[in-house]
Amino acid sequence: MSKLKGKKYNIITFGCQMNEHDSETIAGMLQERGCSEVEDRRDSDITIINTCSIRENADKRFFGTLGQLKKIKEKNPDYVACVCGCMMQQQHIIDTIKAKYPWVDIIFGTHNIHRFPQLLENVYQEKQKVLEVLEDREEIVEGLPAKRLFKHKSFVNIMYGCNNFCTYCIVPYTRGREKSRNPEDIIAEIKRLVADEVREVTLLGQNVNSYKGVDTDGRQWDFSDLIYAINDIEGLERIRFMTSHPKDLSDKLIQAFVDCEKLCKYIHLPVQAGSSNVLKRMNRKYDREKYLELVRKLRAAVPGITMSTDIIVGFPGETEEDFEDTLSLVKEVGYDSAFTFLYSVRKGTPAAEYEDQIPEEIKHERFNRLVDLINEGSAAKNAAYVGRVERVLVEGLSKKNDETLTGRTDGFKLVDFEGPKELIGQMVDVEITEGKTFSLTGKLAE
Ligand code: SAH
Ligand code: SF4
Ligand code: F3S
Repeated sequence: MSKLKGKKYNIITFGCQMNEHDSETIAGMLQERGCSEVEDRRDSDITIINTCSIRENADKRFFGTLGQLKKIKEKNPDYVACVCGCMMQQQHIIDTIKAKYPWVDIIFGTHNIHRFPQLLENVYQEKQKVLEVLEDREEIVEGLPAKRLFKHKSFVNIMYGCNNFCTYCIVPYTRGREKSRNPEDIIAEIKRLVADEVREVTLLGQNVNSYKGVDTDGRQWDFSDLIYAINDIEGLERIRFMTSHPKDLSDKLIQAFVDCEKLCKYIHLPVQAGSSNVLKRMNRKYDREKYLELVRKLRAAVPGITMSTDIIVGFPGETEEDFEDTLSLVKEVGYDSAFTFLYSVRKGTPAAEYEDQIPEEIKHERFNRLVDLINEGSAAKNAAYVGRVERVLVEGLSKKNDETLTGRTDGFKLVDFEGPKELIGQMVDVEITEGKTFSLTGKLAE
């Protein structure tokens, strides 16, 4: 008999969509065994913290949260505290947990999520802690359930890991080498999702452009082949993907934007820096010119395509001139939005050893200048939507109140508008009445 039946769980998720989706899988496996989710972790029997190691402050937040679990454990001796995710792929973190946070019962890594329910059973049955993380194995485990965050849209992993080793980044160390799922498994999963009322899928990978799947006939599929096949799935309305590395963005993929009506006309194309000098030291394998050339090609082939990006400020050795190259690139591209990051040293990565680290106050000063420029650009882009009618997939109620609905345009812009709840999950036309910095407001079109 499973000891998990009737247990209440709570998951805390840090990090990117990969982690969010892993949390959906963890939730799905627990639900399947008769557990139910609770909002307040103080009411839970099981807490899972799914961690991210992308930046230093992610570590700090994690240890802060971990400290709070001790109180729950003191009140409830059967309480099980679990930690997983990218930080658990770093040995010094595991050592710290063992030494300073003895109330943790289970540690598991990014390669072995499927084993989690069994580890939990062991803890309940044998009162045994599990504090080791297993190595990456070559195979991909298929067929795990997931409890979706949204009813009508879903993440779908198409590949795991990363081979790029950008010099600032920890992900290749925490997620292992690139592995692509078999295309037939991906397509079958999306068909099942569509049968369960999903209208939009976001294909996930650290670098989806380098997807290389092999089907059961032994044929190799690249990322565009996969998009064309998914575009044929009946009942699916929209396809998005995340993230796309500029070095591998092919002409074939640009053509897929033209040919595939379900592929949203939006791309997140992280540039990281506007100076070729810095890009080289980041090991990004493209320069400023090549990036701008890609943007021109995309804009020419897909008029009106919206774009977002990631930018790191204060990478070691970044001069004022390098930084101004970033500002000028941002102006030239005209992004709809951007995620901006202060460079943060990650132990074990090459850039952590670079000697020309930038002082914090300079990083912050540049960061503020960049954010102002980006917000100005976003506001101007969004203001230009006023009066346009946009097709919106209604995702749910807005956080503001129960009469406001929220959804996204094809170009990934968030829109709030008044309407009945019954529209959730449908595609509707919304006339845009106001453009703000981070979202649009509208009304249902006649
Ligand atoms: N695979 C994706 C990015 C994943 S990480 C890609 O290559 O585009 C998300 C973002 O975090 C990165 O794009 C980068 O901008 C930021 N980032 C990663 N490591 C960082 C570090 N050490 N300091 C600051 N930002 C970092
Ligand atoms: Fe990190 Fe670069 Fe891989 Fe993206 S492509 S996950 S930034 S190493
Ligand atoms: Fe963080 Fe891991 Fe994603 S380090 S950004 S959760 S892949």
